[in-house]
Amino acid sequence: MRDFENRIAKVFRHRRRWARRVSLTAFRVYDRDIPGHRCAVDWYDGHAVVTSYPSSHPGKKIPDASPGAIQRSVARALEIEESKVFVKVRVPRSRGRQQYQRLDERGVVAVVEENGLRLVANLSDFNDTGLFLDHRETRARLREEASGRSFLNLFCYTGSFTLAAAAGGASSTTSVDLSKSYLEWARDNLAKNALDGPEHEMIRADVLRWLRQNRDRRYELAVLDPPSFSVSKKMTTDLRIDRDHPRLIADTLALLSPAGILYFSTNYRGFELDEARIEQTAREIGVAKPASIEETTPGSIPPDFRDKGVHRCFRVIAGGR
Ligand SMILES: C[S@@+](CC[C@H](N)C(=O)[O-])C[C@H]1O[C@@H](n2cnc3c(N)ncnc32)[C@H](O)[C@@H]1O
Repeated sequence: MRDFENRIAKVFRHRRRWARRVSLTAFRVYDRDIPGHRCAVDWYDGHAVVTSYPSSHPGKKIPDASPGAIQRSVARALEIEESKVFVKVRVPRSRGRQQYQRLDERGVVAVVEENGLRLVANLSDFNDTGLFLDHRETRARLREEASGRSFLNLFCYTGSFTLAAAAGGASSTTSVDLSKSYLEWARDNLAKNALDGPEHEMIRADVLRWLRQNRDRRYELAVLDPPSFSVSKKMTTDLRIDRDHPRLIADTLALLSPAGILYFSTNYRGFELDEARIEQTAREIGVAKPASIEETTPGSIPPDFRDKGVHRCFRVIAGGR
């Protein structure tokens, strides 16, 4: 544990100075840097959130550190109270349904700052805090491109992309998600930045169905950041991003103006973008094939993330009609 603590303390000193310079109060401090310590440690303005990835080899010689031991070490390394360190143990994928379920009820929140914007992070209650730090650069890029554009945010979660677009001067935003509580959180994030005007619309719907029922809408900029897997009683079909991304991308392109920009992102490890099937599906549903598709990762992964495969992101330009 000594190596682990020393590493965190050393990186934190440097990174905190960097973060102050760029006005960030939430950033990654440790990213599975040492092979025996498989976790990520994120700083949220005086608190730490640790995501621990248990070893998949139960027979190995060195057992994983207990959540309590990790909590004590991280607290010492960052010089904060143990009660300010939140340890989440990540279970393997495809129990995807559980990913967004509540773990706790304490409701410990931090309002963090990014690029001059205030965002609410919940440190205690869910696997994820409500702010995906690995999308920070994409939010900044989106903000620069948003001025005067209509923006669509699919699977909007807590609305951090919506907030970036609104702050960048988007003419309107539409945010779609199945979850009532995440939509309320998204609205709260806008309100915290005095950006909760009527031009920012929140819609509770299954994205797959909504896209097909709203073909007459048009947007100039969009983000599509689906979960890798999704199953819900409110959905007509389940979602598996490796299988379903061509249809989802084609259905989104159907709502974009010519030369509209779509950011498509996924955290699915081993993801392969199927360009041929995107073109084929677009043809089948009567939509122009994309004018271009450019991958923005790994360049768009923030410097505090050592894992350059944390997500993959593509910038797709809609074709003409
Ligand atoms: C932003 S996505 C996941 C992002 C991240 N890339 C990941 O893999 O964890 C999570 C959001 O998708 C929403 N969601 C899941 N299935 C949905 C569906 N069929 N329609 C609308 N929203 C959905 C959830 O409510 C949640 O807010």
